[in-house]
Amino acid sequence: MWYTTRCYFCKKTFVNNVNTICRRTSTVANVDKNSNELVLLGQKYATDDWTNVTPSIITKLGRNLHVKQYHPLSLLRQRIVNYFYGQFRSKSGTPSFSIYDNICPIVTVSQNFDSLLVPKDHPSRKKTDCYFINQDTLLRAHMTAHQAELISMGLNNFLVIGDVYRRDEIDSTHYPVFHQVDAVRLRTSDEIFCNVNDSESLKLFEHRGIESAEKQGCHTLEVVKIMEQELKNTLISLAQVIFGKDVRCRWIDQYFPFTHPSWELEVFYNDKWLEILGCGIMRQEILQKSGAVDRIGWAFGLGLERLAMCLYNIPDIRLFWSNDAGFLNQFKVDNPNAHIQYKPISIYPSCTNDISFWLPQDGSYSSQDFYDIVREIGGDIIEQILLKDEFTHPKIQKTSHCYSIVYRHMERTLTQRTVNEIHNQIGKTVAAKLNVIIR
Ligand code: PHE
Repeated sequence: MWYTTRCYFCKKTFVNNVNTICRRTSTVANVDKNSNELVLLGQKYATDDWTNVTPSIITKLGRNLHVKQYHPLSLLRQRIVNYFYGQFRSKSGTPSFSIYDNICPIVTVSQNFDSLLVPKDHPSRKKTDCYFINQDTLLRAHMTAHQAELISMGLNNFLVIGDVYRRDEIDSTHYPVFHQVDAVRLRTSDEIFCNVNDSESLKLFEHRGIESAEKQGCHTLEVVKIMEQELKNTLISLAQVIFGKDVRCRWIDQYFPFTHPSWELEVFYNDKWLEILGCGIMRQEILQKSGAVDRIGWAFGLGLERLAMCLYNIPDIRLFWSNDAGFLNQFKVDNPNAHIQYKPISIYPSCTNDISFWLPQDGSYSSQDFYDIVREIGGDIIEQILLKDEFTHPKIQKTSHCYSIVYRHMERTLTQRTVNEIHNQIGKTVAAKLNVIIR
């Protein structure tokens, strides 16, 4: 599977991917081999024989779709963040989780792998699976790369959201760049057992314990069960918030080097089971090395594209990268919970022209009249009309409207000249009929 685990961390199913990986090695596109330097996001990096980052991947750096206003990935991110803000609050009522959605995607091998106890010979470290800038530096392959560092900074509850990069083929559900939300929650024994009567006898850790399928050696079974319950409840309610109260969910045992025990959550949506996230009880060694010695933690990582494709009915993962107004305008809503079902648009490109005018001061103007005139003149090539801006001049007390008109022909490519002619015709007609003054 793509965005989370199977081929990436789970040794078992990785074997199935050997073919794909062999095919992939032969298609290593490359950046200027003669220069031994790369400038990425304003920073210089030395290149070496590990460098395999390609020009088209580099163009994705800094796009930050997950924070782009009205982008479907950003709407979904907002829903997840709102859920965590609402669900976890401190005694004083402030949200417990802090959000990091602006961390640079260029990380060290140590951040992406070593800090997470990924074995040195683990397949996920391979050149065939990651985009390396050089031997020590790569484009992060998961948001978990920032986990240890944020814990070292003293954080106990956080979400890290951003773009991640993995080498793979490109089809309607696979793309070498996608977005993840990772979460960590750390708790002390006092926090966990505060509501228990006989809390004296309850501990987080046990000495000389043995690792089993249920727990790590150092943890007590009771604390692991409490954490597991909180983790699973949190994620099931998150799935319900996104997919609706009645969504069917199931847990699958999983393997990650950085959590134990580990699970995957699957939801039943549009007649099939869909894997939406990986999670588990954090390896205590990571917490110890990061200075959180008296805490136990859970963590999860979730891919945004896959969820958004289901939720909004988006048929192709490439659409997320589109600048096409016919795509983006369908997500122009201020309420991130709005129910949106994407409607496929014509494959021919669109042209967007803006029109601004002062409204008549007698209150006779209505947008509906404007829409009718535009339709009347433009006919079926009018794909969308959006009120982009409305403002009242403080001195002259006149109101102005600015609309974007998206033109698209269903059977052929429109030239800008044709569109301009229609657009001018619209301008003239509205000026004459609606008593507006074109700006
Ligand atoms: N980093 C894992 C992935 O990308 C997801 C994960 C995060 C799993 C945190 C467990 C804990 O597949």
